[in-house]
Amino acid sequence: MAGRKKVCCGLSALEITLTVLFILMTVVSVTLITLMVTWETGPTLPPSPGPQHQPYLIGVGRADCTGPPAEIPLMGYANPQQTAAGIHTRLFSRAFIIDDGKKRVVFVTADIGMVSQRLRLEVLQALQVKYGDLYRQDNVVLSGTHTHCGPAGYFQYTLFMISSSGYIRDAIQPLVNGIVKSIDIAHGNMKPGRIYRSRGALEDSSLNRSPHSYLNNPEDERHRYKWNTDKQVLVLKFTDLDGDGIGMLSWFAVHAVSMNYTNRMVSSDNMGYASYLLEQDKNPGELPGQGGFVAGFSSSNLGDVSPNIKGPHCMNTGLPCDYLNSSCPVGGTKMCKAFGPGDDMFDSTRIIGHNIYSKAKELYANAVEEVTGVLHSAHQWVNMTDVTVQINETHTVSTCKPALGHSFAAGTTDGGGDLNFTQGAVEGDPFWDGIRDALVGEPSNQTQECHHPKPILFSTGEMNWPLPWHPQIVDVQIISVGSVAVVAIPGEMTTMAGRRLREAVKQELQSEGAFRDSEVVIAGLSNIYTHYITTYEEYQVQRYEGASTIYGPHTLTAYLEKYRGLARAIAQDKVLELPVGPQPPFFEKNLFNLLPAPPVDKKPENTSFGEVLQQVYPVYRQGDVVSVTFVAGNPRNSGDIRDKTFVTVEIYDNRTETWEVVHNDASWETRFHWLKGSNQQSNSTIEWHIPPMARSGIYRIKHFGHYKKRVAFRPVITPYEGTSDVFRVSSSFYYQ
Ligand SMILES: *[C@@H]1O[C@H](CO)[C@@H](O)[C@H](O)[C@H]1NC(C)=O
Ligand SMILES: *[C@@H]1O[C@H](CO)[C@@H](O)[C@H](O)[C@H]1NC(C)=O
Ligand SMILES: *[C@@H]1O[C@H](CO)[C@@H](O)[C@H](O)[C@H]1NC(C)=O
Ligand SMILES: *[C@@H]1O[C@H](CO)[C@@H](O)[C@H](O)[C@H]1NC(C)=O
Ligand SMILES: *[C@@H]1O[C@H](CO)[C@@H](O)[C@H](O)[C@H]1NC(C)=O
Ligand SMILES: *[C@@H]1O[C@H](CO)[C@@H](O)[C@H](O)[C@H]1NC(C)=O
Ligand SMILES: *[C@@H]1O[C@H](CO)[C@@H](O)[C@H](O)[C@H]1NC(C)=O
Ligand SMILES: *[C@@H]1O[C@H](CO)[C@@H](O)[C@H](O)[C@H]1NC(C)=O
Ligand SMILES: *[C@@H]1O[C@H](CO)[C@@H](O)[C@H](O)[C@H]1NC(C)=O
Repeated sequence: MAGRKKVCCGLSALEITLTVLFILMTVVSVTLITLMVTWETGPTLPPSPGPQHQPYLIGVGRADCTGPPAEIPLMGYANPQQTAAGIHTRLFSRAFIIDDGKKRVVFVTADIGMVSQRLRLEVLQALQVKYGDLYRQDNVVLSGTHTHCGPAGYFQYTLFMISSSGYIRDAIQPLVNGIVKSIDIAHGNMKPGRIYRSRGALEDSSLNRSPHSYLNNPEDERHRYKWNTDKQVLVLKFTDLDGDGIGMLSWFAVHAVSMNYTNRMVSSDNMGYASYLLEQDKNPGELPGQGGFVAGFSSSNLGDVSPNIKGPHCMNTGLPCDYLNSSCPVGGTKMCKAFGPGDDMFDSTRIIGHNIYSKAKELYANAVEEVTGVLHSAHQWVNMTDVTVQINETHTVSTCKPALGHSFAAGTTDGGGDLNFTQGAVEGDPFWDGIRDALVGEPSNQTQECHHPKPILFSTGEMNWPLPWHPQIVDVQIISVGSVAVVAIPGEMTTMAGRRLREAVKQELQSEGAFRDSEVVIAGLSNIYTHYITTYEEYQVQRYEGASTIYGPHTLTAYLEKYRGLARAIAQDKVLELPVGPQPPFFEKNLFNLLPAPPVDKKPENTSFGEVLQQVYPVYRQGDVVSVTFVAGNPRNSGDIRDKTFVTVEIYDNRTETWEVVHNDASWETRFHWLKGSNQQSNSTIEWHIPPMARSGIYRIKHFGHYKKRVAFRPVITPYEGTSDVFRVSSSFYYQ
């Protein structure tokens, strides 16, 4: 409740306004990214060209960054019903630090929807306290995998605060601490090593969800590519000097939306599952989240790329949706949904995640091309509301104050909006425009013209109450390791936008001759979230991605110019001459929190917390699902849950007469559902999907939590645990 006090007056008006706007907005496809960090070590060291085949110093680290798995909205679909209620898989931050003896770069990829400006600034502050000037905005890149199933609440701009139920300290703290801890671990285990690069194609795991927009790109440009999404997987393999693997970092362009908006469990989705599988392989015998080998799967130019490869169909009829607008005759956009390749969302997550993992594993095994050469990092802050670019001798174009178009509210075929908005709208709707004008005001003529042909739904750049609705100052950043350049993008670039950007950066790098055979990769959802970046031609169609290109039709043109500048500075070794640009704000006042503190926990009469309400059966076979229900407390009352577990599955070891933990709540095989009832009572239902290869034996399931009570008006938090009856898993039906 402390957060409520921050809004001094008119809270109920604020709440009402925000709630109405929230319903109006419906669907914001928002995602978190991965974190990428770079640092320079010794400005005191004399600059030297450096021998080309010197090993690097390499550190890798992984840390739990799972936030409260209850009641907080999940960041991604902006669906107010989709609040957290348990854990499917845990969220981890994975950090990679590389040092060439003179400079360092750090790349962090975190299982979050996107990195927000607020999150990045808080991480940089924490790094400053620990490491002084070692880690700074110019040498640290943070990127998110774009899972849509991580707790929100870590944003400082109003639009994102609304869809998050506010700025929630309990939600941002585990992200800051988890990211910093992953860097601490990488920092602490740096040792000499080598890097190898490898790339290959992964087909059948991604689909363009706005092919109509893509087709508006020039024909000769499209003909240069076989596919309308990027299929390449780039892998960096990290080894020590003995050749033993210590980590892997890869990039692939696909939305982490195999889990749909009906899922309420915190989940790292397909990209997180790929990390999980490779880490389980390389850290044999370890529980998930443990072991030294770190496998990062980073997002890329996934703006128009869906993992739901059976494509969009009307859920009521099974027929394909309308091609231009992705809507259905009955039910509109909400009814049009892309599915597949699995039977349900868990199966789809498993298949897509497994595909990405398999390809990366194969590329990792075959990576022989060594990455050598010095490191660079180039960074600027840019005021994206007024970038002017001279496109030819007579014409200049400019970016605009941020605004969202009508089709933003339509959502996508990965999760459609509730209202009657459709994609591809180039005209406003008097009904919704009227509501908008009454609530938050009319867009200025200047902004409308600037965004043409986008019909503006929210002129967020002209909405500043209680804080700006969208950012003006944006990070642009490139780090390079030898011939590999990682371009950190503050949002979601579409396939073709990403191709143009990679090509521009590559051209600048190679112009000086120093970067022959360079590999340029896009790290999506990095540093700050600014929605989508389409090409100018795609923008004209105004599907969801174009409507969400918030700085107007020339957003990509502006970024091409800015990133070219960074690449040129790297090629000429002049990054220190780049202007720093205007510093982003760090808001202290007017952050609001609409999420009440959890109430005291109550339990059914004559029971205790942790008591089993619904017991296991005595015998199961491999492939069955075990389910057990406990009297529970609100998981938010468990405080910082990082490196803990709500669940263990344990097997009895006859020899030592002890219980051995085989799964925790980070395991793919376990699902922790938290069910909130009336009267402040709640249940935890734990499922164990017994894998086909599970050992036969005697098992039990344990649940751990905390409950809150009030003693003399003060809240008291008490831990509890519960244990199921023992049960047997047996491959033989007739056993016993
Ligand atoms: C989400 O996936 C589940 C299957 O796991 C399916 O039953 C449901 O219809 C899907 N919902 C949407 C909106 O895609
Ligand atoms: C960004 O540019 C706009 C337009 O020139 C200006 O009004 C605004 O103050 C600038 N923002 C910042 C934070 O400098
Ligand atoms: C410059 O670009 C504009 C806009 O694309 C175009 O209309 C104009 O013909 C171009 N001028 C020249 C000299 O190429
Ligand atoms: C559907 O898309 C087409 C083409 O973009 C557009 O002209 C039309 O207005 C759209 N229809 C609706 C209902 O939004
Ligand atoms: C959406 O619904 C409103 C209210 O029913 C209506 O006035 C408006 O015309 C509808 N818009 C479209 C594009 O169907
Ligand atoms: C936009 O321009 C029109 C006509 O020029 C004018 O009537 C209207 O008031 C202007 N709207 C705003 C918001 O300035
Ligand atoms: C709880 O236990 C008391 C004492 O044994 C008994 O009288 C009461 O009926 C029980 N209540 C319920 C709901 O079982
Ligand atoms: C292990 O436990 C099972 C079940 O209680 C029992 O049947 C078996 O004999 C035990 N084996 C050993 C080696 O003690
Ligand atoms: C908890 O589980 C019990 C037993 O299955 C059930 O009766 C009760 O409705 C559940 N409560 C909630 C909040 O789901």
